[in-house]
Amino acid sequence: MSLVAERMQRIAPFYVMDLLAQARKLEAEGHSIIHMEIGEPDFDTPAPIIAAGQRALAEGQTHYTPARGLPALRQSIADFYLERYGTPVDPERIIVTPGSSGALQLVLSVLINPGESVLMADPGYPCNRHFVELVDGKPLSVPVGPESGYQLTAELVESAWQPDTKAVLIASPSNPTGTLVSDSEMQRLHETVKRLGGILIVDEIYQGLVYGMAGGTALRFAGDIFVINSFSKFFGMTGWRLGWLVAPQPFIDPLDRLAQNIFLSAPTLSQFAALSAFSPEVLAILEERRQAFETRRDFLLPALRELGFSIPVTPQGAFYLYAGCEKISDDSRTLAKDLLEQAGVAVTPGLDFGAHQPEAHLRFAYTTDLEKLSEGVERIRRFIAA
Ligand SMILES: Cc1ncc(COP(=O)(O)O)c(C=O)c1O
Repeated sequence: MSLVAERMQRIAPFYVMDLLAQARKLEAEGHSIIHMEIGEPDFDTPAPIIAAGQRALAEGQTHYTPARGLPALRQSIADFYLERYGTPVDPERIIVTPGSSGALQLVLSVLINPGESVLMADPGYPCNRHFVELVDGKPLSVPVGPESGYQLTAELVESAWQPDTKAVLIASPSNPTGTLVSDSEMQRLHETVKRLGGILIVDEIYQGLVYGMAGGTALRFAGDIFVINSFSKFFGMTGWRLGWLVAPQPFIDPLDRLAQNIFLSAPTLSQFAALSAFSPEVLAILEERRQAFETRRDFLLPALRELGFSIPVTPQGAFYLYAGCEKISDDSRTLAKDLLEQAGVAVTPGLDFGAHQPEAHLRFAYTTDLEKLSEGVERIRRFIAA
């Protein structure tokens, strides 16, 4: 009998981490690798945030904070919603968490009873399935494709809905596709989920990283949804492990109780550092970076299409392109391995993002500079031609 809990059989590894380890090994052996597999900004945390963290450390801010987070940080987040998105949010509804990963864990633990199902898009962020498994819920993956911009729609939700369905989880912009849910579709999704008696959870971790359009928040339409967010991606703070959630008021007490028990508090130093994340100085740096990501997308998207990858929907957010590779290979896992070993380009195979045509897709992350992206494209061109 295995001493490891049975649920662990349903928790798959994050393959990209294996791939990254293999890429690092090849680099250590002297090979040059272009990294297009990494799901975090290549930019370091903006200097004013680091300076604020250093000041907090020097001042001895090394103790727990309240489980919901520093009141000043929750107020700053609320102010940000108002100033940037014109959406008033009561700071009492905000809970600061260890990354959005912590927020997802809290929300799903508070909402999902054993056996209840959660609908999510396939392809989608792989860890979500596992968070649902962790609370003995049932992740229900709904295949999505270019016709719906790789996102769930009200119709898809309605037809996938089961008697045991409790919640629908949307990520906009999405990982791995970089596509968004439009405002009107988000409203339809909200109405449908509400009519069916469930709860809508919207992961807005890539909020701020949108191109050619104004970003938004689903909180604009509805107060009875859960919104997940993070300092990781737009703010460039992945390693600080800091995120937040906005919940309807009646859920705040159970979320707070659970946060007290499993986290005690989000990292104190990170919270003090994040107090400076909304300053005009930092927002100016972040805007420059957003523009850099947009320039990279505008380079990589046509370049990959020209190489024969199919990207039917232009992604308007995050830093990913989810590309059909059927013209090049019918086995994306082997293609990713060969690209790494033979061409020195690391990309993520579709396998990481679900069961819907993973063998026909690769995820390219433009989290490296234009020069390297351009070199990566040339290497892939030579690999395909060989
Ligand atoms: C869609 C999505 N949600 C959540 C996360 C978790 O991020 P973090 O815990 O760093 O906030 C990620 C990370 O890649 C993601 O892509």
